Amino acid sequence: MIHRLQRGVVPAKHHIVHRVDGALTFEHCFTRRGFDGAYTIMYHRKPPHWITAEVDEGSHPGWAAPADDGALRRRHFLAGKVPAGGEPFLARRLLVANREVGVWLARPDRDDSTLVANAGADELTFVQEGSGRLETPLGVVRFEAGDYLFVPRALHHRVRLDGPALLLVVEGRSWIDLPKQFRNPSGQLTMDAPYCHQDFREPEWPEGGPAALDPPCDVRVLKGERVSRLTYSHNPFDVVGWDGQVWPFAFPIRAYQPKTGQVHLPPTIHLTFVGGGFVVCSFVPRVVDFHPEAIPCPYPHSSVDCDEIIFYVAGNFTSRRGVGPASVTLHPSGLPHGPHPGRYEGSIGATRTDEVAVMVDTFSPLLPTEHARAVEDGGYNQSWIRAEDHGVME
Ligand SMILES: [Fe+2]
Repeated sequence: MIHRLQRGVVPAKHHIVHRVDGALTFEHCFTRRGFDGAYTIMYHRKPPHWITAEVDEGSHPGWAAPADDGALRRRHFLAGKVPAGGEPFLARRLLVANREVGVWLARPDRDDSTLVANAGADELTFVQEGSGRLETPLGVVRFEAGDYLFVPRALHHRVRLDGPALLLVVEGRSWIDLPKQFRNPSGQLTMDAPYCHQDFREPEWPEGGPAALDPPCDVRVLKGERVSRLTYSHNPFDVVGWDGQVWPFAFPIRAYQPKTGQVHLPPTIHLTFVGGGFVVCSFVPRVVDFHPEAIPCPYPHSSVDCDEIIFYVAGNFTSRRGVGPASVTLHPSGLPHGPHPGRYEGSIGATRTDEVAVMVDTFSPLLPTEHARAVEDGGYNQSWIRAEDHGVME
């Protein structure tokens, strides 16, 4: 939740008579953490709870049971092998998950045909390829390749694409927010935070209000693995105004301001978002460590509490070979991990890196699904073995 916004026509005070065009409007208090967290109040022309039908559509087509599937190992998944086509909401495939976070991949090529909502999670989508707009009752958020797109839990929306897209969707099953250490006591982002308020793309209020977007009256709601299809009796975007701090936004990864140290700093300096049980970090082009004898390549490490997902966006990733744009690696806790042979020593003297990547570190183990195995590079775990060291073929 970034800061308070107001759009459209709102009353002078909460919970009082608010007439628009002579008719009473109906409040919709959209609250978080019960009634103690951030909230937004929307003002609808018709009661927002007037739903005429509910249909159980069964399990989401991209859901699959996360499960142990053998020895602990480093893994590499190829997002480009995920089946292409379909609507953003229905085309997604669950790759790995635990109770707190789910990571999905999607290669949609058309708009959502219904409104959609995730009632079980805040969603942070990284747009690897494609562009479009997110339509919501709070307004429209434009997005393009390289953006994070945040959609609060349970907010009805529709993704409209300009063409084929490749999306990484991170579900925060309790919450996703900015790290509180990036705020001063007044709630402003601090001057040494890695981003400023202006970096977050706010929802734009369309001409005629969101009702003019003419959304479908059907909403697919994901909760757990199941999809329910609800039908509204009226335009679900009939919002005349709103005020609050819960709203969708886009954040371009290249707006992230990286930090560099005299010697290599831990990945926590790339912290971008936090969620219940996980963090999201952004690696962006930067000047690297400037000690004359610094080793800029990440050191081998055992982060013993975390499973680590890295989604490779662009550039030459310093520490790994065999991975490229749209690669997803999973390095589980319990195994040390580190650079491929030659990368550690080869980085000495480097002055900058052009890598762009998204990292998700989770504090509970991630389990893969059948969708992960279907796009797995099975040779990755042994790709650290060098022939001259071990007498084996690469
Ligand atoms: Fe790591």
